[in-house]
Amino acid sequence: MRTRLLRFLTLAATAATFTAPAEAQNQLRVQSPDGRTVVTVEVREGGLYYSIQRDDRPLFLPSRLGFEFQGAPPLRDGLRITGSTTSTVDTVWTQPWGEVARVRDRHNERRISVTEGTSGGRQFVVAFRVFNDGVGFRYEFPEQPGLGEFAITQELTEFALADDARAWWIPSNRSRLDRSEMLYASSPVSVVDSVQTPLTMETRDRRTFIVIHEANLVDYARMFLAGRGMENRTLRAALASWADGIKVRGRTPFSTPWRTIQLADRATDLAPSVLGLNLNPPSALASTDWIKPMKYVGIWWGMHIGTMTWSSGPKHGATTENTKRYIDFAAANNIGGVLVEGWNVGWDGDWIANRNAFSFTQAYPDYNLRELAEYARSKGVKLIAHNETSGGTVNYERQLDSAFALYRSLGIDAIKSGYVTDTIDGGHSHYSQAMVRHHRKVIETAARYGIMLDVHEPVHDTGERRTWPNMMTREGARGQEYNAWGSEGGNPPEHETILFFTRLLAGPMDFTPGVFDILIERGTGRPRRAEESRIRTTLAKQLALYLVLYSPLQMAADLPENYERQPAFQFIRDVAVDWDTTRVVEGKIGDYVVVARKARNSAEWFVGAITDEEARTFTVPLSFLPRGRSYVAEIYADGPNAHWLTNPLPVAISRRPVTSASTLRLVLAPGGGQAIRIRPAR
Ligand code: NOJ
Repeated sequence: MRTRLLRFLTLAATAATFTAPAEAQNQLRVQSPDGRTVVTVEVREGGLYYSIQRDDRPLFLPSRLGFEFQGAPPLRDGLRITGSTTSTVDTVWTQPWGEVARVRDRHNERRISVTEGTSGGRQFVVAFRVFNDGVGFRYEFPEQPGLGEFAITQELTEFALADDARAWWIPSNRSRLDRSEMLYASSPVSVVDSVQTPLTMETRDRRTFIVIHEANLVDYARMFLAGRGMENRTLRAALASWADGIKVRGRTPFSTPWRTIQLADRATDLAPSVLGLNLNPPSALASTDWIKPMKYVGIWWGMHIGTMTWSSGPKHGATTENTKRYIDFAAANNIGGVLVEGWNVGWDGDWIANRNAFSFTQAYPDYNLRELAEYARSKGVKLIAHNETSGGTVNYERQLDSAFALYRSLGIDAIKSGYVTDTIDGGHSHYSQAMVRHHRKVIETAARYGIMLDVHEPVHDTGERRTWPNMMTREGARGQEYNAWGSEGGNPPEHETILFFTRLLAGPMDFTPGVFDILIERGTGRPRRAEESRIRTTLAKQLALYLVLYSPLQMAADLPENYERQPAFQFIRDVAVDWDTTRVVEGKIGDYVVVARKARNSAEWFVGAITDEEARTFTVPLSFLPRGRSYVAEIYADGPNAHWLTNPLPVAISRRPVTSASTLRLVLAPGGGQAIRIRPAR
């Protein structure tokens, strides 16, 4: 107890600042609290460079820092370090919801002042924060006579990898620019061309995992990483543009987002990733009591498999009657929310082209919004309103206040938004500063009205949820819907084992797990063949995804009728959506993941395991359970001869008493999974 108190006092009191001697220094260092990671910043022939070593091994070779501007010389040459300050922080903060309740922020910071050698030269600061789990750095431009308004045409930040590490990536310059909905490829980093972040890599000696991403993207363009072509291991920041090609418009004082480099010895140490959260400001909300993670069902999958439509007509999904059926189903099954898509006017005709036709307040005549809001309230269920914008940001922003005020008055406190389009209003990139500003505006407006957000076709997650905990979840990767569409081939069995170590390191994902009709047979009338889009997992793996792919708004995606008479549905009723603790037990990128999570404000633990197309067996000691207590493990395993392709449906459900001394043996079928609830014995 005494040591704990002492430790608390130390944690609370270790923020301090030291100023280095004012004289110019040409090489400065800052190291992680455990001393393993060392960042060196230096000037070489007038250019500013950083490099990173871990355990005395180079990870990043000298990598240039700087910018190019429109109408002003580049900020790149003739630079001098004029001074620096250092500080250390060690605190613990609590998340209102998340993969873990408490997050430790322990880092050393060095802020390095840089000036152009010429008189009247421009000045800036590069701030480095070095944590045990990685490095963050950003540029800060103070207000100054020689730098007021500016337009960045290129950020020159480099990431010069010392090793031709293996990278898991999705392209940023192929297919449709506005999407992150692609399958991951894996290759040596030297051959990548232009890729999205988080970019996860493993050094060839297998000693270090490296993830490049960004944090606290507030008023800047989204970052991609551009390779310099074959056989070059240097990646460079590449920014999304405004329609006129400018990357970022700003005026001093101004700070860029943090460029983050997460480091881990093992793949299992990558998640849950808190580096980016630590680099975002604390919550801006006075109260977060109204923000509640939940499971939801929705009038949604039917549109994707073709049994319902968003538009009006005989197959219209969002009718009053159908919605009541979903509300009743949610109420009867411990599911908090009902998403309704296609409820609002604007879906008829080409809804991607007719972006300005969307009303976010006017319902179709066969959908009685008020009656349904009241019906949902009486059943203790929340309606989730859908706001597809088709990228019509002007149309959406014009209606934001009136729509959110309406939702609030009806007790609707969550929305799912969408940005299906190739060009945003004004022709800006989907990921431009214009869109980053738009999303911030929506988040802040939603917070004012007490509304939680689930964003599809988003800008990638950079830890916004720390400052704005109403920013719950988003898509931003290839989700379950690709398994429904005829033409796309579906997601291969390895897909989710890669997502866990790539996309999910940025933040929660609305993947929409839980489809039980694996062959998409019901409603559509015939089972889909192997080569068509269909679910390429076993049913048990669909359950395991509730643990593996974290989302505070977690969908039970299938049609309610497909859950009828399904004993395995009990797991979806029971599974938690908010976590106190997360432990990655086993993991290999592209092969398998085993994760254990303790539910928030509960004694229950859950374990989820998934595999790619290989069958696998895991031995999981339950040593994470508190000693001396009796539990019951409720196990949902792949049934006899289960196989994602030939026999996906069998689930074997069993129960056994366990304690912290027990070990479970998890047997997974090819493309299979296992989901376990561990509850105190009654
Ligand atoms: C794509 C989204 O990912 C999906 O969930 C939604 O149903 C459609 N757009 C329509 O908004």
